[in-house]
Amino acid sequence: MTRTEPHFRIGPAAESVPEAPLALGIVVPVFKEVENVGEMVRRLDTALEGIAWEVIFVDDDSPDGTADAVRKIGRRDRRVRCLQRIGRRGLASACVEGMLATSAPVAAVIDGDLQHDETLLPRMLDAIRMDEADIVVGSRYVAQGGVGNWDRRRVAISGYSNALARRILGVRLSDPMSGFFMLRRDIVHRAAPHLSEIGFKILLDIVVSLPSRPRIVEIPYEFRARVAGESKLDPAIAWEFGMMLVDKIIGRYIPARFVSFAAVGGSGIFVHFAVLSVLYGGLSAGFAAAQTGATLVAIAYNFFLNNILTYRDRRLEGAALFRGLATFYLACGIGVVANIGVATYVFENNNAMAVSALAGIVVGSVWNYVITSIFTWQARR
Ligand code: GDD
Ligand code: MN
Repeated sequence: MTRTEPHFRIGPAAESVPEAPLALGIVVPVFKEVENVGEMVRRLDTALEGIAWEVIFVDDDSPDGTADAVRKIGRRDRRVRCLQRIGRRGLASACVEGMLATSAPVAAVIDGDLQHDETLLPRMLDAIRMDEADIVVGSRYVAQGGVGNWDRRRVAISGYSNALARRILGVRLSDPMSGFFMLRRDIVHRAAPHLSEIGFKILLDIVVSLPSRPRIVEIPYEFRARVAGESKLDPAIAWEFGMMLVDKIIGRYIPARFVSFAAVGGSGIFVHFAVLSVLYGGLSAGFAAAQTGATLVAIAYNFFLNNILTYRDRRLEGAALFRGLATFYLACGIGVVANIGVATYVFENNNAMAVSALAGIVVGSVWNYVITSIFTWQARR
């Protein structure tokens, strides 16, 4: 394949401010990658020789000074920019905002920890330029690709979630979880209004959000081992993946966050009964005291689990955690009153026990959800 068009090729004497129109915007999501940004820019500079590019590091206010490290490079090299977000977390939303921030006609997303193979970028750009594809994906699973030194557990988890995505969303991609891809910017714009922006899986989100099937080309690469810093992928990511699937399937009727909130609440019933039986049965406390203790523990359990799972992207930490717990107790306290009030009202009118109880529970949970989404986990924007 040849790249002859002067629009994209600017020759070996490219300065830090390219004269040719911007051809490629590279989006690098970063969280606590201070040791990797310098090397990342050096590698991009080498890999993209002759291409008019810029890189946008999207940092979620990393405590290690990642954003400052990027800006320090950016003062000398205007191709390097930093998009710093405060009070928010999330790989998917970081990628979207980065892609929307570049003026280049083509955008790429690549991890900032040097695990993806940046030398593939010119080939990916060729495929877009030659109109062979709308999206080019770096894949670890097509022939010659590989996952490097992953342990068996991670290989298995990755395999299962891929199969699940293929079945539920009908996506034909060998590596739908890939965080390494390139696409025309108009594709991002077309998908943007329908994106879930939950969790880690932005490529999958984009592909299933598009009104029509994009043409996808996959290029194999070997996933490298991480040298500096550590992975942010933890077990809670699986929950977020579930939330994204829920959002894609029923999101237009019920918010995925509410489904997550309700699921956590449902599991809280078991916690409640466990504590109740320990206090009442085991420690022979009075029933009222045992029920009160169980309720307090169950509410705290709900708070902490929601903080990790439902509101991972706005997770409260430090002092904010205690403020959050206090507002959560307050909201749920009022929620209980609403629950009992509604249930009693319905019961007085039709005498149906289950229906009345359910009505109370639904009203109470919706109240708890709405109020805590505002007062406990309000997004700081
Ligand atoms: N801005 C921002 N906000 N960046 C983040 C966040 C976040 O909340 N979480 C992670 N990142 C950045 C990391 O700093 C890194 O540059 C990149 O996103 C990937 O994160 P890792 O934590 O290194 O992920 P991984 O290597 O374990 O996961 C890789 O494989 C997954 C598939 O199993 C990535 O390529 C994922 O994109 C991919 O889905
Ligand atoms: Mn990584």
